[in-house]
Amino acid sequence: MKHLIDIMELSTQEIDSLIEIAEDIIADPGKYSEACHGKKLATLFFEPSTRTRLSFEAAMYELGGQVLGFSEASSSSAAKGESVSDTVRTVSCYADIIAMRHPKEGAPLVASRRDWVPIINAGDGGHFHPTQTLADLLTIHREKNTFENLTIGLCGDLKFGRTVHSLVSAMSRYAGVKFIFISPEELQIPDYIKTDVLDPKGIPYEEERSLERAMPKLDILYMTRVQRERFFNEEDYVRLKDTYILTPQKLKNAKPDLSILHPLPRVNEISVAVDDDPRACYFKQVLNGKFMRMALILKLLEVTV
Ligand code: NCD
Repeated sequence: MKHLIDIMELSTQEIDSLIEIAEDIIADPGKYSEACHGKKLATLFFEPSTRTRLSFEAAMYELGGQVLGFSEASSSSAAKGESVSDTVRTVSCYADIIAMRHPKEGAPLVASRRDWVPIINAGDGGHFHPTQTLADLLTIHREKNTFENLTIGLCGDLKFGRTVHSLVSAMSRYAGVKFIFISPEELQIPDYIKTDVLDPKGIPYEEERSLERAMPKLDILYMTRVQRERFFNEEDYVRLKDTYILTPQKLKNAKPDLSILHPLPRVNEISVAVDDDPRACYFKQVLNGKFMRMALILKLLEVTV
């Protein structure tokens, strides 16, 4: 494991190993507090972020390392027209590992090609978001104690939601998994996910318009925000943004052990009244993201504790 661009670069054994490390960090954080002493992580964020960037930074600090970086393209030389490749080559002179978010799909892959330092894709356009998937996987594992035989509903913007694309790919490798894709027609899951990921493995999925109809079947409900920044016009966004709003009322016919996930930020799609439901896992997911990023940094820097 040199870089992490697409979650599918990790085998299921490597995912198990990251989960094992994250669980060990949760059990005994003190053991890891100097693990990355003398190492630096750079966060290069060409797009907005709260959780992903700050959890990477918190992860590195909790490993005893240091952090540098920028949080918007306008404060970097990208604003002067510098290429991603030159920026990454430069930063690799200052840091041992880079976490990078970019609006262009494939930008982190290009940055990783020359092998300057390990590159972690922290989200590339509407494409992939592998470290959010690591947070999602630890959350599912902690809640369900397995990845098998789960019916997973993904609801909202399945077209532009990069977390959805990475999570479906990752979960498609476990036995007995079924997907229900709940979205308006305009925001359906991309065809390549069906033809390249699901169909070759014969994984069952349904496409559904109604969250209420899907609800009783679900073990996991993965809510997502409509991705305003990826729309070509504001009118379409306004028309689609509130298609699904999860409320306590809509959870009436859900399973008692449903787990509700959301990568966050939420806009309107989960009412705050749901936050107190014991099935709401999205803030636990935030914390799990930090632990999995700690595990990932250790693996990519080849640090053993
Ligand atoms: C997600 C992202 O950036 O894709 N956020 C995150 O990293 N937790 C989801 C989103 O922005 O809707």
